[in-house]
Amino acid sequence: MALTASTEPIDFNPASSDFVRDPYSTLLALQRDDPAHWSPRLKAWILTRYEDVRNCLSSSDMSVDRIRPFYESLPDNERSVLAELMRYLTLWLVFRDPPEHTRLRQLMSRAFTVRAVQALKPGITELCEELSDALPRGEEFDFVDRFAMQLPGLVIMNLLGVPRENMQRLKSCSDRMQLFIGSARNAPDKYERAAEGAHEMAEFFRALIAERRREPRDDLISAFIAAREADEEMTEDELVAACMLVMFGGHETTTNLLAGGLSKFIANPAAWRTLAEDPSLSRQAVEECLRLDGPSGSMARVVAREHILHGKSLRPDDRVFAMINAANQDPDVFDEPQRFDIQRKPNRHLTFGFGPHFCMGAALARLEAEIAFAHLAQKFPDIGITPQGVEWHATIIMRGPRVLPIIIR
Ligand code: HEM
Repeated sequence: MALTASTEPIDFNPASSDFVRDPYSTLLALQRDDPAHWSPRLKAWILTRYEDVRNCLSSSDMSVDRIRPFYESLPDNERSVLAELMRYLTLWLVFRDPPEHTRLRQLMSRAFTVRAVQALKPGITELCEELSDALPRGEEFDFVDRFAMQLPGLVIMNLLGVPRENMQRLKSCSDRMQLFIGSARNAPDKYERAAEGAHEMAEFFRALIAERRREPRDDLISAFIAAREADEEMTEDELVAACMLVMFGGHETTTNLLAGGLSKFIANPAAWRTLAEDPSLSRQAVEECLRLDGPSGSMARVVAREHILHGKSLRPDDRVFAMINAANQDPDVFDEPQRFDIQRKPNRHLTFGFGPHFCMGAALARLEAEIAFAHLAQKFPDIGITPQGVEWHATIIMRGPRVLPIIIR
């Protein structure tokens, strides 16, 4: 995309259909002309350069504790609807600063180990076989619904030790919680529905935790219960919250990686053929699917300490969106940033974040996508797309197709 300098103010309107389809014309113009942009619509700073996004994600000038101030600003009636949801969200480590973050992250890391992720490999391969065998040939279907949403959901349930028949129920809980956490969608009764989703999911995990206390198994819930660090363990609410975070945080993100990645391969058939011929390239190819128009749109922060950035003063309590997707296309860091290059090296994208909150599930998401793309490219070397049919999620937090109609020829 050629960008020419312009004196027109850049209209950052993430709700517009043009932005949802192509956020990058605006984001890359901001990156060049107004890297610390104040958005009156979002009442927030929009950061788009790689260096600034990376600093914002890891700096102690910024706080991740953004849900609580928002909750406290709501009227009494809405606060009481959301009270139970907040009981768990305030225990999610993504929303906690040190020292609570450090303690919880240490405890969760004791359970969420490389070994636990690697042990899932044979199960992921089997699930890929099973799901891809069931895909129709020669007729259009939605890849999100039939594959990209199924695989991560089933894998996380295997990891946690949740029986498979609960998939739809937990997905519905996540979707309802998303109405509060993930987007500005104006759904009717959105807070009531988010609260119901959280209640149902919390009660589900509370019961499962009680079962695992009685009879531990080789799963993440049992490992969370057993995790100890300097004589500390997780409280009952922290355990419930940790299960909810893993279920919620690891599902839709990976779905977006699989569906967004496949859409990129379909637009670049030579790359798909290269992968089909040499599936060992899959690991590196996944990094490019993560980088270019990958699943992380932005991460939100709140300014904790006043500081100056590009001549602008960022004041305590100001909200900030660190636009990861824009940073991943910063020409100061990536050569030909808009080119989809499955052998790109180095590829230091920020899609899993940076610093103390770096994604705990990165190894799992990478493993799933690596196995899935290698498997699909070999099995279905000829996949087509109906471009008009692709619908993108309308939120700046995450990025990916909501619907991806494809045809396997
Ligand atoms: C492609 C898929 C994924 C993407 C793009 C992604 C992205 C991210 C990002 C950007 C963060 C940092 C948040 C911040 O700085 O505020 C994060 C944190 C986290 N992610 Fe992921 N994630 C993915 C998959 C997963 C999976 C599969 C799991 C679990 C099974 C998971 C669990 C977590 C947890 C627990 C945190 C919180 C870490 C902390 O705050 O210390 N993620 N993720």
